[in-house]
Amino acid sequence: MKENERKPESGVFTGDAYPTVFSTYDLGVARPKNRIVFPPWQLNYANTDGTVSDKLLEFNTALALGGCGIIITGCAVVSEDTVAFDRVMRIDDDRFIPGLRELFNAIEKRGSVPAIQLVHYGRQALSSVTGCELQVPSAIPCPVMSRLDPQYKMKEMTREDIVRMAENFIDAAERAAKAGAKVVEVHAAHGYLLNQFLSPYSNCRTDEYGGSTVNRTRLVADIIKGIRKRLGRDVIVSVRVSGNEFVEGGLTPRHYLEIIPILEEAGMDVLNVSAGVYQSMERMLPPDTLGDAPHVSIASELKRYASVPVCAVGSIFSLATAETILAAGDADFVAMGRAQMADPEIVRKSLEGRETEVRQCIWCNNCAFWATGDPHVFCSVNPAYQKEE
Ligand SMILES: Cc1cc2nc3c(=O)[nH]c(=O)nc-3n(C[C@H](O)[C@H](O)[C@H](O)COP(=O)(O)O)c2cc1C
Repeated sequence: MKENERKPESGVFTGDAYPTVFSTYDLGVARPKNRIVFPPWQLNYANTDGTVSDKLLEFNTALALGGCGIIITGCAVVSEDTVAFDRVMRIDDDRFIPGLRELFNAIEKRGSVPAIQLVHYGRQALSSVTGCELQVPSAIPCPVMSRLDPQYKMKEMTREDIVRMAENFIDAAERAAKAGAKVVEVHAAHGYLLNQFLSPYSNCRTDEYGGSTVNRTRLVADIIKGIRKRLGRDVIVSVRVSGNEFVEGGLTPRHYLEIIPILEEAGMDVLNVSAGVYQSMERMLPPDTLGDAPHVSIASELKRYASVPVCAVGSIFSLATAETILAAGDADFVAMGRAQMADPEIVRKSLEGRETEVRQCIWCNNCAFWATGDPHVFCSVNPAYQKEE
């Protein structure tokens, strides 16, 4: 019996239906028991001071008990000027370490690999909420957020600002490692600050951080190098990118032919491939009209340029689909967000041959609280996350 297989009460061995899903992967300091990832979700479940709440502990514990291999506890902000939601997790000060330690410990104790994503929202935030000018590579307003905020104000970053920003990410990674995270993910997707630097669509700088692909990739590469220098191989460094921004003049998979080797050279261990920016929001959370697993071909193309393992995401709702993707070699890990929100036990149930008992995501996208106007994430089908009366 494979190490992570359990023998169901019926005595029938069933994990065999998904041999690739239930194979381990040696990532160095962690060896996830299977290839299923919970992708980073900003749930707005933290305490109002940005510390870890009981609700965050419960949410992530349920995922770990459900059998998920790697759990990326949502994004956490790396500096105070980008607290863009009232209940976003924070990691910009040592005072956040004890709560994070409890969170990572709760995950690891139940057999999953604890991970965290580090973010700066850059131009995709509201100055009226952050109370600050938005730090940006170039003063090009986000077409979505600037329209919502009469106080929207950007600050084009100086070289000193950029160096300080890199330090913020590196300090945050160190806090995450001190708290027990095995994976730190640098958020360079979805149009946020580091994606803005990478993209010709939002970076028009003429100094060493703009222009060529090498220059646009410099900040992300410096962050990875800094984390490696500070922490050695004590953490696994993942980078999340939007493999295709789906905007005119933006990043397409071809750009990554040049970007990926730079990130690998800097020390990236895992590439997590998503898609879209705020202007192409439907790609960040693909609706039913895009069909099942619409972005796997993007992950698969980027995997051709990469030597590190690649994670695919987007409307993957069953372990059967995950197995097909992995077995075809289109990705090495599969992230399932809404599917595990709807039923955190989808992995365990599928392993035990109880697929018919899985509570399916109905693709309503009501979990997108920023679009529904809700204060935090709810789920239409999971009774644990219903709207309060
Ligand atoms: C409520 C919510 C919050 C999210 N927050 C983040 C985030 O903080 N960072 C990130 O990279 N992606 C975020 N995403 C995108 C998810 O990581 C994932 O890519 C998306 O849910 C698509 O995967 P799925 O089809 O399996 O749900 C979020 C999605 C949702 C629904």
